[in-house]
Amino acid sequence: MEIAKAYEGREHSVVKHALLKGYLEKLLFIMGMTGIREIAYVDCFAGPYKDESADIQATSIAISLNILNKVQDALATQNKHITVRAIYVEEKKSSFKRLKDYLDNNCPSGIQAFPIRGDYAEKTDEILRLCGNNSFAFFFVDPLGWTDVGIPRLSKFTEPPEIRIFNHIHVRPLKPLCRKS
Ligand SMILES: C[S@@+](CC[C@H](N)C(=O)[O-])C[C@H]1O[C@@H](n2cnc3c(N)ncnc32)[C@H](O)[C@@H]1O
Repeated sequence: MEIAKAYEGREHSVVKHALLKGYLEKLLFIMGMTGIREIAYVDCFAGPYKDESADIQATSIAISLNILNKVQDALATQNKHITVRAIYVEEKKSSFKRLKDYLDNNCPSGIQAFPIRGDYAEKTDEILRLCGNNSFAFFFVDPLGWTDVGIPRLSKFTEPPEIRIFNHIHVRPLKPLCRKS
């Protein structure tokens, strides 16, 4: 399998991004077709992380925005016009600046993007307020290392009435695993 240069040194991200690409689009399209009128995508650990390129195409930020835009357009052709909010949480100052700059310059016009700086768990109320009461909310939880993302820390996100689904990804780095085999 050929791995793009942007993934060098973090090959495990190929797996995470393949999973994200593989079902986010289908899931959101199905939800839109079944009558959901608002979608919220929440990236709890947004980055950008280890992609120094200006277009940050090898990050969940660019990948999710592309998918959200594609789904919104596809649903519009079916006469289903949905509100899409994309919420990106990043703790590190320098990464947050890049995140904000990217969203300011690259967010598709139909999508409302909200960069939030801080620890995702301390920003729960703000995140939930932005999700709104009627959205289908998808949480991408992609921590760095052994950051606490246990149920007690996530529990507020699981309260009703909104419909929420979590994609909690923890993929071990591929290189050490390859060396062992
Ligand atoms: C594994 S990287 C995320 C990569 C990104 N999701 C992607 O797929 O391209 C984890 C990111 O979360 C940030 N971070 C670490 N702890 C955090 C926390 N408690 N709340 C929000 N962001 C955090 C790190 O600075 C880093 O940019």
